Amino acid sequence: MTDLRETGRQATGSAPAAAPDLWQLRFTGPRRLVDTAEPLFDAALSVARVRAGDEPETWTLEALFDGEPVAPPFEAGLAVAARAIGAPAPAVSVERVEQRDWLAENQAGLTGITVGRFRILPEHRSHESTPPHLVRLLVDAGPAFGSGRHETTQGCLRLLEEIAREGRPRRILDLGAGSGILALAAAQLWKRPVVATDVDPVAVRTTRRNAKRNRCLPRIDARSGGGLDPVLRDRRFDLVMANILAGPLAELAPAMRRAVAPRGRLILSGILSGQENRVLCRFRAAGFRLERRLVKGSWSSYRLTIR
Ligand SMILES: C[S@@+](CC[C@H](N)C(=O)[O-])C[C@H]1O[C@@H](n2cnc3c(N)ncnc32)[C@H](O)[C@@H]1O
Repeated sequence: MTDLRETGRQATGSAPAAAPDLWQLRFTGPRRLVDTAEPLFDAALSVARVRAGDEPETWTLEALFDGEPVAPPFEAGLAVAARAIGAPAPAVSVERVEQRDWLAENQAGLTGITVGRFRILPEHRSHESTPPHLVRLLVDAGPAFGSGRHETTQGCLRLLEEIAREGRPRRILDLGAGSGILALAAAQLWKRPVVATDVDPVAVRTTRRNAKRNRCLPRIDARSGGGLDPVLRDRRFDLVMANILAGPLAELAPAMRRAVAPRGRLILSGILSGQENRVLCRFRAAGFRLERRLVKGSWSSYRLTIR
């Protein structure tokens, strides 16, 4: 059983000019350790979690890097994470991966997927027709996160769809846009402008490229920067979507309270089950009320509103 997780950068997208120098770092341990340690591999191209043998609670994490990863910092981080859950520090192995045009192979294998009302197609499938009741999104994530296959992205898309049944937000922010998939979904759903921000300039460029692919470049205002810094401090949004990770989300709670308009909505994702209390406490304390919780795999997504 393989559970491919996109973290920060994913293994899909257009072929790079030069073949990447691929290295795999792997370790095996309790599933809880694999879950909690995943943020350590933020800089990896992709992270896969594979169940180790027949043991349901023993998993292997395989992180793919462009260039040889330096093992000791990962070993130290894993030792701390293991200690926190009373498990032994896992042995870490680092191996070079056989050179193949893996990006092109991956892309060729990518088919369109349907998530609720959204039909997500990679560029090379753009000739495929989309049933009229579905919102078509042409998304090539390239080196950014957001192909539409991850549980967190899908959780956000599902919540977007629910919000669409109730209204049509006017001012929209996608914080941590990655490929821009959520910004595109909102822009196409409501034909409204969307501000899309990301701390990673590669993601900002990818968002712009995807906006162009979907002929909605004028509606997507893609900006570079972390947290709420790239948007005007005094600006309010009727809908904010943020699929980041639990840690940065929790820290953003008070600023989010200022960014969401009085009857506005906030969609959060990127939260593992063991991190839910911490994140929810911070958002409740900041003045939000939980309207809906959606769980997909190990990941939770929330819809919140101002109390
Ligand atoms: C999990 S991806 C989500 C991508 C896309 N929104 C989706 O739902 O598939 C998270 C993105 O947030 C960005 N990010 C992480 N921390 C951030 C922060 N503090 N401010 C802005 N962007 C951030 C990352 O660079 C990454 O592109």
